[in-house]
Amino acid sequence: METKRILLIVSGGIAAYKSLELVRLIKRQGIAVRAVMTQSATEFVTPLSMGVMTEDQVYGDMFDLKEEREIGHIQLSRQADLIVICPATANILAKMAAGIADDLATTILLATDKPVLAVPAMNVRMWQHAATQRNLAQLRADGVTIMEPDSGAMACGEFGPGRLPEPPAIAERICAMLGHSFDSTLTAGRAPTTLEAQPDFADITHRPLFGKRVLVTAGPTHEAIDPVRYIANRSSGRQGFAIAAAAAEMGAEVTLIAGPVHLVTPPGVIRIDVETALEMQSEVEKALPSDVAIMVAAVADWRATEAPDQKIKKDGKGIPPLTLTENPDILASLAQHKNRPGLLIGFAAETEKIIEHAQAKLAKKGCDWIVANDVSGDVMGGANNAFHIVNKDGVESWPDSPKDVIARKLMERVAHALAQG
Ligand code: C5P
Repeated sequence: METKRILLIVSGGIAAYKSLELVRLIKRQGIAVRAVMTQSATEFVTPLSMGVMTEDQVYGDMFDLKEEREIGHIQLSRQADLIVICPATANILAKMAAGIADDLATTILLATDKPVLAVPAMNVRMWQHAATQRNLAQLRADGVTIMEPDSGAMACGEFGPGRLPEPPAIAERICAMLGHSFDSTLTAGRAPTTLEAQPDFADITHRPLFGKRVLVTAGPTHEAIDPVRYIANRSSGRQGFAIAAAAAEMGAEVTLIAGPVHLVTPPGVIRIDVETALEMQSEVEKALPSDVAIMVAAVADWRATEAPDQKIKKDGKGIPPLTLTENPDILASLAQHKNRPGLLIGFAAETEKIIEHAQAKLAKKGCDWIVANDVSGDVMGGANNAFHIVNKDGVESWPDSPKDVIARKLMERVAHALAQG
């Protein structure tokens, strides 16, 4: 059988060091590798190390006349059976999407007639940026295969999608694209290479929730009356989204279970969209275990007992009867759950006797804190919120502040409480 060959393009990101391990694994599978490094990749891995791994010359400078005479960029782009960009930075993906060819790597990518696999790795915000997502959509449409990055803790201390997949998984994908059988025994027993997995890399001062799982519910729920009508409330979801964003910024692994809202998912947050209270309850249970749960959603208290499949018609025979059934109290049922989160926080929107009602709710729901706010003004959908944290130790009141400031302050209290044990 003829030896399969890949051309590996290494672009410049912290994950470039994993490309050395990838070369070793691919060669073990009996696949030949030739490497091209961008200028910035050489800041992370030396061409000498890469050359030792590939047992070949490493290509880098398009204007090296000796290389161009011996082996031109067109030839390099055509000799391989597959071109793999690993890691693929946001920058090289943007250049590829725009058809820019300003160095050897991008010139090869523009000149090739071979399949291309891009293995992105970057900071979660760069990955989620609209420009990167637009470029990825363009590249997919152009026929480039994109390997999804892993989610998890990153070298920069943030959490979310953007991590380079582990080299054995990349090697397996390469084999699949080449139609080459993958022998997993050849990748076993390797030393761990995941720099990102080391908790020491978390900046625990700025990311005090690193390693913690935080569950947040947000927004309203919609309870169908028929296919076009529903029962709902005025919750915008903004406070819950701000809390999820603050928790993610502080390093937590955040699952946000959102009712129907028109809000952008905060960076690094795992979002699950639901419509009804029953769906929200089921997703909350699936998201357990969790260190902290913050139930900000304004769940509809009732749903229609029966919601017909067809629209209820105005037939002139009077108003149709609407019977209601009580929805489960998600917060109260979580308080009784065998996997009850260590810190369980409920919200209470009140229009009068705010503290008194919050204290009663704390006991009734069985949660640890109630965050009470006065909704007698324009809080629903507004930018500001005034809060009172009510727990067994008493009441702490905060002045009217923007929802993101309140969110950050609340998550700082949470981090403090977790640190106290
Ligand atoms: O009873 P009330 O709706 O005022 O309680 C508000 C708190 O309870 C909020 O934290 C809200 O997310 C939660 N809740 C819930 N399930 C319900 C109703 C409220 O989790 N069905």
